[in-house]
Amino acid sequence: MKVSVIGAGHVGLVAGACLAEIGHDVLCVDNDPRKLEALAAGRTPFFEPHLEELLTRNIAAGRLHWSASIAEGAEHADVLFLCVGTPPLPDGEADMSAVEAVARQIAVAARSPKLLVEKSTVPVQTGERLEKTLAVYGAAESEVASNPEFLAEGTAVVDFLFPSRIVIGVESEWAEGLLREVYEPIVQRAFSWRPSDVEVDTEGQAPLIAANRNTAEIIKHASNSFLSTKISYINMVSRLCDAVGADVRLVAAGMGLDARIGPKFLQAGIGFGGFCFPKDLQSFIRMAEKNGCDFSLLREIERINAGQVDRFVQTLRDELWILKGKRIAAWGLAFKPHTDDMRFSPAVSVIQRLQAEGARVVAYDPQAADEAAREAPGIELADSAEAAADRAEALLILTDWPQFRQVDLAAVKARMVRPLLLDGRNLLDPESMSALGFEYHGVGRGRRTAMRLAPAV
Ligand SMILES: NC(=O)c1ccc[n+]([C@@H]2O[C@H](COP(=O)([O-])OP(=O)(O)OC[C@H]3O[C@@H](n4cnc5c(N)ncnc54)[C@H](O)[C@@H]3O)[C@@H](O)[C@H]2O)c1
Repeated sequence: MKVSVIGAGHVGLVAGACLAEIGHDVLCVDNDPRKLEALAAGRTPFFEPHLEELLTRNIAAGRLHWSASIAEGAEHADVLFLCVGTPPLPDGEADMSAVEAVARQIAVAARSPKLLVEKSTVPVQTGERLEKTLAVYGAAESEVASNPEFLAEGTAVVDFLFPSRIVIGVESEWAEGLLREVYEPIVQRAFSWRPSDVEVDTEGQAPLIAANRNTAEIIKHASNSFLSTKISYINMVSRLCDAVGADVRLVAAGMGLDARIGPKFLQAGIGFGGFCFPKDLQSFIRMAEKNGCDFSLLREIERINAGQVDRFVQTLRDELWILKGKRIAAWGLAFKPHTDDMRFSPAVSVIQRLQAEGARVVAYDPQAADEAAREAPGIELADSAEAAADRAEALLILTDWPQFRQVDLAAVKARMVRPLLLDGRNLLDPESMSALGFEYHGVGRGRRTAMRLAPAV
């Protein structure tokens, strides 16, 4: 099938590459010259595992093309996936101006009925508004469907091709038929790519849920808000663990073995960030309010999340007393491992808070250095985890990159002025760190590990 993808970012570029990988002829449209230049030069504009491999192969096979023109996107295909950003406005609502602008341009350019597919995360009833926009600007025959994206950065390609579920929100058989056709190879697992690094479920079919458009739009926000809730829940439990001398990692392990709860998203730490959870939570709260539902539960989730950074910074203050003029090492900038995305990263919040108090923070991240140099030039960068720790009064772990576990921490300690280690992601083992001579503080690990975790947990 011919398919266009408007917005070639973390979602759009992955979607475009994966749709090409399963055999479609894909045109990706973006208005960011930097991104288009990188793609034209054969460079992947951001770090995402497996993406480069898919881009290279599908460009060479002639199934993946680029353009800066939405009109070309409308000419190329009748199915257009909308993947532009929906950042938060100051009042928490999603900024829908890019979505609306793209719909208008598609309407003006359309020469045949188009199916505009919302893949961006949008408030419920956006489909209705978009359909009106299409009609006003000359594409009354066109339709809008919802197809929320559940991929997570760092595992985006695998998530897209081996999804937990595909959700389509449609108002006509035509729209449903087109979207089922697009996803048929993924549902039937009828493509040959398999990841080399993780096991994937290749049995049976990938689940596809067809609902009406409003339902599909709500599924996305309800899912992200629920996941945020799990994180804030365990973070609140971690505070109690700190207060009474319990270990939140074991509490989470004990909870997570219950299949009704599950172990995922129960990692206590400095909180969630990124381009999705914080803004989607705010947007869901606003959406509920506008429709007469007081979702105060989610306001608490936000408040607890912000409090995790406050508590972490306070622990450092309690230890160092004065931050001004002190050199602090920060390991991690990305909002989570396996990505270079620093948008709304709690790591950046911590660093900026310390800088505001006059500390000299030297940071290291295995992937986000280029992004940091561009997006956060005020952050001083080191070339290695070890170098960041040179003459530091404290070492902070802010992103749980697994490679931090491999660093020779005895050597790191030898470089530091004071062996103070604040593990904001509970990445390291408190007992081993104490044995090395670190003053170790995790999150919610009030008592040194009372019993051993089985390695699989
Ligand atoms: N990042 C994620 O993990 C993720 C996961 C699921 C859903 N989402 C949702 O998907 C949407 C996109 O997120 P993202 O992370 O890919 O954002 P992004 O910023 O990485 O990508 C958006 C892209 O759209 C382009 N763009 C903006 N306006 C445009 C226009 N008028 N014409 C053409 N291109 C335009 C930008 O240049 C950018 O490349 C958001 O609504 C987000 O909430 C994101």
